[in-house]
Amino acid sequence: MIGADGQVGSVALRDLAERGCKVVGTTRRAATVGDDRLFLDFSLPPGEWPDLPAVDAAVICTAMTRIDECEDDPDGSAVVNLHAPVELASRLCERGVFVLFLSTTGVFDFTRPYRRHDDPPSPVSAYGRQKAEAEARILELEGKTAVLRLTKIMGPDMPILRTWHANLVAGEKITSYEDAFIAPITAAFVALMIHAIISGGAEGVFHASGDEDVPYTVLAEQLVRAMDADATLITTVEGGLPHYPIANAPRYTTLDMSREEKMFGIPAPSSLATMAETVEALVRGGQAA
Ligand SMILES: NC(=O)c1ccc[n+]([C@@H]2O[C@H](COP(=O)([O-])OP(=O)(O)OC[C@H]3O[C@@H](n4cnc5c(N)ncnc54)[C@H](OP(=O)(O)O)[C@@H]3O)[C@@H](O)[C@H]2O)c1
Repeated sequence: MIGADGQVGSVALRDLAERGCKVVGTTRRAATVGDDRLFLDFSLPPGEWPDLPAVDAAVICTAMTRIDECEDDPDGSAVVNLHAPVELASRLCERGVFVLFLSTTGVFDFTRPYRRHDDPPSPVSAYGRQKAEAEARILELEGKTAVLRLTKIMGPDMPILRTWHANLVAGEKITSYEDAFIAPITAAFVALMIHAIISGGAEGVFHASGDEDVPYTVLAEQLVRAMDADATLITTVEGGLPHYPIANAPRYTTLDMSREEKMFGIPAPSSLATMAETVEALVRGGQAA
């Protein structure tokens, strides 16, 4: 698991271990290095990367995911999002390792729903361009490779939910975005998809997406309801989604999951149910605290 400390990497590593797989992770936190945790920092030149253990499959979960950071530093972020993963994937392929690279619905331009696996990428941000190029270069390597594109990953720690929750607890207003949409999935669902792909050695492009695009306003309403808070505290605005300087109000983010339903029997999960479960978990956690 390349990037085992991240939102997806940590959950997927635990999931695979619980399924009986022997899993080694990489970290860039020196204090956690151990037998099953190798130090790997993509900002170091490849000559300083560790010797990789003999493995059947590798999942590349590392990334600089913030749209604004990639926009502000396109060269630096390209090292982490494009050059280093392609170099690592190439080395792994040479050793016969199956490589799964995690990508994003941001390789598309948010103008159409249910993007198909073979739709040509149309990125509108530096992050999306880096991911689209990395996908293409990894898929064309000699060896067995796959790409898993994801929509927004949602959990109780999602910054916007945390901020809204704290504001509502304090009786303050919250701002929600009526023209910015998400089709959320959980890290646990991504882990399920990762297992399905690597256990079957399935090559090519795969998608993990919620079943519909839902506006942030619905998420705000669900949170207010779950907290039994005052609904008039929600202020609805257009655009201005934090960290989205480009395409700041994505309209369509969904990805077509018909291939995954056919191959693995895994359909797109309900976006509304994912939101509701996440909000419930946040409110329960807050009460426990
Ligand atoms: N989160 C989403 O909503 C979302 C949506 C679509 C696609 N994705 C994709 O899904 C994958 C996983 O995302 P995530 O949400 O798990 O991201 P995340 O929580 O930000 O984790 C990213 C991981 O990459 C590591 N990393 C960053 N820079 C590095 C470097 N220079 N060298 C080595 N490791 C580095 C981070 O290390 P530290 O922990 O030490 O910082 C972290 O473990 C990424 O490919 C992302 O593009 C995510």
